Amino acid sequence: MDTTHIASLRSLAKKRDVLIGAAANWRALRTDYAYREVLAQEFDLLTTENELKFGPLSPRPNAYDFGPAEELVDFAQANDMKIRGHTLLWHKMNPDWLTENNFTRHQALELLHKHIFTVMAYFRGEVYAWDVVNEPIHDNGGLRDSFWLHTIGPDYIEYAFRWANQADPNARLFINDYGTEDLGTKSDSLYNLVKDLLRRGTPINGVGLQMHLSIADSQDFVKPPTVQDLEENLRRFADLGLEIHITEMDVQIQNLSGSMEEQLERQARVYEDVLTVALRNPQLKAFVLWGFTDRYSWIPKATGRPDAPLPFDEYYQPKPAYEALYRALQAA
Ligand code: XIL
Repeated sequence: MDTTHIASLRSLAKKRDVLIGAAANWRALRTDYAYREVLAQEFDLLTTENELKFGPLSPRPNAYDFGPAEELVDFAQANDMKIRGHTLLWHKMNPDWLTENNFTRHQALELLHKHIFTVMAYFRGEVYAWDVVNEPIHDNGGLRDSFWLHTIGPDYIEYAFRWANQADPNARLFINDYGTEDLGTKSDSLYNLVKDLLRRGTPINGVGLQMHLSIADSQDFVKPPTVQDLEENLRRFADLGLEIHITEMDVQIQNLSGSMEEQLERQARVYEDVLTVALRNPQLKAFVLWGFTDRYSWIPKATGRPDAPLPFDEYYQPKPAYEALYRALQAA
């Protein structure tokens, strides 16, 4: 580590009363000492990258394996980090036994109830915030198809929040999505959805904006929002009384032209702009990266191309993006 960094990101974030986090996975935590060191040193919030998704958690009906998630929770607690539980409901990474059976609406509601209570009760008091519903909005603005939507109907979302609140009344409950960072159809839909949920008295505490960004063209990924759009979007969610978490930030540089140095500088600017704008909003309570080292980023696998989307390189050296986050926190 560069010795000019006398502080860590987490110590700077603490002064601003915001949590700074990273998604972490069990495999890396188990096998990589440097990974554990940097994670605990720089971050005070840990999101479970895959270990609490329904499929990995319950590959067979009526059986849950909490082992890997527990190891992440234990690590976080040992290092005085809070936990973001990701995620109770999603359209992806569900167990085959769930999606390949023809459950009725009634059965699906029972399964939903059981899943939420089983998982949240197990970690009651240990998980600070849950992504109760992940990626519920389709890119066209409608509700996204999923096992839950087509078996239960649109009210699966409200059921999920109400049961989550019963299962752990102290947990902060979030709805989380991507492509909802700027102003536009998708983000309007998310806004209208949460506004409606609130109007109906649904216990929802906050909105998670994933912030998976790509600077150059990459089909399925979101362009960095303009500073103005982001600011206004955060303001309207905050005005509803909701907390805001940036939940999964990474910034792809694949397909960019220019030297590696220039690419990394551009990437750093995106990180700095997003964190700076987010910190201006008093409802911003957590800022989370999707990983922290390029060594284990999901992006190369997801896009099929090499990339370097995170603030630490493969050898745990801080990149310009790290300096950018550091500066943004210092300035806040
Ligand atoms: C990703 C993980 O990082 C990968 O390891 C896994 O193969 C697929 O899921 N949005 C989300 C996360 O909400 O759960 C996804 O995580 C990345 C996109």
